[in-house]
Amino acid sequence: GLPERVTIWEVGARDGLQNESSVVDVAVKLEFLDRLADAGLSVLEATSFVHPQWVPQLADAEQLLAGLKQRDGVAYPVLVPNERGLDRALAAGVRHIAIFGSATETFANKNLNRTLDEQFAMFEPVVARARKEGLDVRAYVSMCFGDPWEGHVSPAQVVSVGTRLLDMGCSQLSLGDTIGVATPGQVEAVVGGFPTVDNLAVHFHDTYGQALSNTLAALRCGVTTVDSSAGGLGGCPYAESATGNLATEDLVWMLDGLGVEHGVDLDALVATSAWMAERLGRPSPSRVVRALAG
Ligand code: HMG
Ligand code: MG
Repeated sequence: GLPERVTIWEVGARDGLQNESSVVDVAVKLEFLDRLADAGLSVLEATSFVHPQWVPQLADAEQLLAGLKQRDGVAYPVLVPNERGLDRALAAGVRHIAIFGSATETFANKNLNRTLDEQFAMFEPVVARARKEGLDVRAYVSMCFGDPWEGHVSPAQVVSVGTRLLDMGCSQLSLGDTIGVATPGQVEAVVGGFPTVDNLAVHFHDTYGQALSNTLAALRCGVTTVDSSAGGLGGCPYAESATGNLATEDLVWMLDGLGVEHGVDLDALVATSAWMAERLGRPSPSRVVRALAG
């Protein structure tokens, strides 16, 4: 069976933009977020409080939060890797954060400058303090289906890392296919390795064109939160061969066809992605945007 309703976790302003080499003006980012809210998206991952030299595109996180007109019924989570990031996020009035761990040793090192074990020590005080402050904490796990340096990643490894993050007190675990290599059978194996799907989300990049198939596999397993980025923007600057996320428009088109509710106005979303593509100076990689915006 399929769920009746899916929550779309829109990551365009964060995952979508973090890999753009030319820095997008904060005013454009704010308009992007406003337009995404207008289109009916209820979770807008807004930015990251990471080291500004690691992700220069998101070095304006304080400015962005200061200019953001937060709406009732819309959550604006931000990425936070460590206590310094949490200090900054709390000072900016953030209510939802996401920590981001790695399933592999190599990527923990490349993305967080930590060993696989050290990443837990970095996250633990962040989650504890955030929960004490009443914040909602999501946890990502990257490289759940394959790693550019280590190759195959076993479901057991993902379940082990994911369970440790959930046990810290995170409310949700997002399973990341950072480099877009997963296929649906693998999705079933990884999702099925967890005791429940109620606190799981999926986060597919579309490098090999499998993101929608993988999403459908996850929905059939009972997952009801799906990450995607408007127009298919995206990629991770610290992962070789990571391209854009699953496009939100492609996801919405499929959900419409399946009769699964999502609350998004597709026309408004396509217009937003076409507008953003103009700002970035190149066409959206989303097939649905290209089909409908033309
Ligand atoms: P580090 O160099 O080990 O940091 O980086 P440190 O703890 O040694 O601190 C060094 C200096 O940085 C200190 O300053 C800190 O204060 C400062 P000093 O005392 O020397 O003057 N510092 C900070 N400044 C501002 N904000 C901070 C911060 N932290 C330390 N938060 C660190 C460790 C985690 C900070 C670094 O590796 C980092 O920022 N990494 C982030 C990388 C990133 O953002 N990657 C993309 C997001 S993950 C992703 O895209 C995957 C995902 O989409 C899912 C998927 O697709 O799989 C989520
Ligand atoms: Mg990602």
